[in-house]
Amino acid sequence: MYIWFTVLAGLAILSFSFLRTFFPYLGEDWAYILTSVKLGYRLLKYKKGKPFYSVLDHFLDAVKRHPSRIFVHFEGRQYTYGEVDRQSSKVARALQAAAGLKEGDTVALFLANEPSYIWTWLGLAKLGCPAALLNFNIRSKSLLHCFSCCGAKVIIASPELQDAVEEVLPTLREQGITVYLLSETCSIQGIHALSDKISQASDQPLSRDLRANINIRSTALYIYTSGTTGLPKAAVVTHERVWAASFLQAVCGITSEDIFYINLPLYHSAGFLIGMVGSIERGNTIVLKRKFSASQFWDDCRKYNVTVMQYIGETMRYLCNSPKKDNEKNHKVRVAIGNGVRTDIWSEFLNRFGDIQVRELYAATEGNIGFINYTSKVGVVGRVSLVHRYFFPYTLIKFDIEKEEPVRNAEGLCIEAERGETGLLVGKITQRSPFVGYAGNKQQTEKKRLRDVLKKGDLYFNSGDLLLIDHMSFVYFQDRVGDTFRWKGENVATSEVGDILTMAHCILEANVYGVKVEGHEGRIGMAAVTLKEEEDFDCSDTYKQVVNYLPVYARPRFIRIQPCLEMTGTFKMKKVKLVEEGFNPAHIKDPLYFLDTEKKTYVPLTEDIYGAIARREIKL
Ligand SMILES: *[C@@H]1O[C@H](CO)[C@@H](O)[C@H](O)[C@H]1NC(C)=O
Ligand SMILES: *[C@@H]1O[C@H](CO)[C@@H](O)[C@H](O)[C@H]1NC(C)=O
Repeated sequence: MYIWFTVLAGLAILSFSFLRTFFPYLGEDWAYILTSVKLGYRLLKYKKGKPFYSVLDHFLDAVKRHPSRIFVHFEGRQYTYGEVDRQSSKVARALQAAAGLKEGDTVALFLANEPSYIWTWLGLAKLGCPAALLNFNIRSKSLLHCFSCCGAKVIIASPELQDAVEEVLPTLREQGITVYLLSETCSIQGIHALSDKISQASDQPLSRDLRANINIRSTALYIYTSGTTGLPKAAVVTHERVWAASFLQAVCGITSEDIFYINLPLYHSAGFLIGMVGSIERGNTIVLKRKFSASQFWDDCRKYNVTVMQYIGETMRYLCNSPKKDNEKNHKVRVAIGNGVRTDIWSEFLNRFGDIQVRELYAATEGNIGFINYTSKVGVVGRVSLVHRYFFPYTLIKFDIEKEEPVRNAEGLCIEAERGETGLLVGKITQRSPFVGYAGNKQQTEKKRLRDVLKKGDLYFNSGDLLLIDHMSFVYFQDRVGDTFRWKGENVATSEVGDILTMAHCILEANVYGVKVEGHEGRIGMAAVTLKEEEDFDCSDTYKQVVNYLPVYARPRFIRIQPCLEMTGTFKMKKVKLVEEGFNPAHIKDPLYFLDTEKKTYVPLTEDIYGAIARREIKL
């Protein structure tokens, strides 16, 4: 009896270690599957529940449970759950009275990273109004475009963005848009102060009836993505998607005790959905930062006892580039959530700042598929899980980089990539993983849909990203397809930049792309252009166009003058070769120019300048 027991126990242990040897990620896989199933069940409950239980309802429940828990730390001040709730009621009442807002009216938020972002949004949610999150770096034409594609009739701006609003004010007034500034007074005709009305409003709770018709498929937010072509697009984010994104903190093991450091902009999904809304879902505390600062990063973490940080590849690199200090490992950060970190930077980060779990994730705001790195394998964005794949069917298909389109077989169907081969990620569009598309842009929405992928008549979401799945089922991010590149943590849509360049009077056509610079994440903007007949390159006019219309990160730092632009068979501009050739004047015969931020114009790119960039004497 005893002997049998020992043998059985021995066998059990043996088989377990046997399993661990051959399936080393079994434990982590199961933990992940279990969490996912639990959260999937919760989402299902919300889907079926009547009345619909939104993130706002969850926030209000949190307020009831722990009104005096700190919700936000910001620049030395703190705001409890209760305070944020009352403040949001005041905002809702002020807007209701002043602008007559009602359920379904979209409001554009043009706000800096401040606590008012949070209560203004919650206030809008109390009225059942979707919010459009405008990027505070955009100006003029881009700003107007983003504003108009969400269909908002009201815009609320931070006082520090007043100049940007004034610049587009004539057009806004023509369209009958109501413009509010979060300040006590405003002397500009056509811009109304809002803060005075907010402070006078009552902080009593608002009736649920105001948002009685909101359901899980209603639009909660518009979040802008610099997609593959043209100006930014407003991705429609439904309440279902808000819930799903908010679960990411839970998937990463974040609890209500954690202190979450948000140093990314709130107008992107990372800061807003994963950070802020995720913290509402967990009921924990946020430390909000106006702007990422590498020099203040660890001091902030120590001061506020931060336990979870967010990153993007670029901020990770800035942290590693900052001067070494003795107390670098003295902090409580245990988890880092983000995307785009390179393996080498990650190892350096661990060496310097201690044992922090990195949860690298892959997802697009508008996409219908995402991955998360839940194992301890360096360099991967996730892992193929049968359960995940069953609920959210996706695949990688063979992709022709030169033609920039999927490879198709004789029957016109796409071909799945082999294990270990790079392919284009496509996610099947189903009830459970819908692709809602972009507001007011049928054409762009259609462009992201891919038909006849594995069967005639099927429909997939084209992520525009190249990934690889290895023989161990790990998923690796490889590259973005053609038309977008990343610089300083922002996506740059090449055709948007191209449109602006061709507004310079000397430029006929522009082909915009990103080039790699040693020691920097992402790619910096470069453009190959052709000139109009009998025109020379006009440095100062081009500089003026670029600076007036493009945010700093999108401005092409290098310009290459070509006699003609090379096109593909389908009249797309060829970029691959240009990207490879880069910007070294010693190797390129075409005239090259460099955007000189000190001289405030374009200057010929000499070998001296090239050398100074390589030695990092010129900051990019
Ligand atoms: C951080 O933790 C320490 C020790 O637990 C505590 O004394 C301090 O008040 C905390 N700081 C904040 C901002 O909560
Ligand atoms: C995935 O997570 C592990 C452990 O937290 C980490 O060591 C690894 O670097 C991560 N991978 C990436 C690409 O960040």
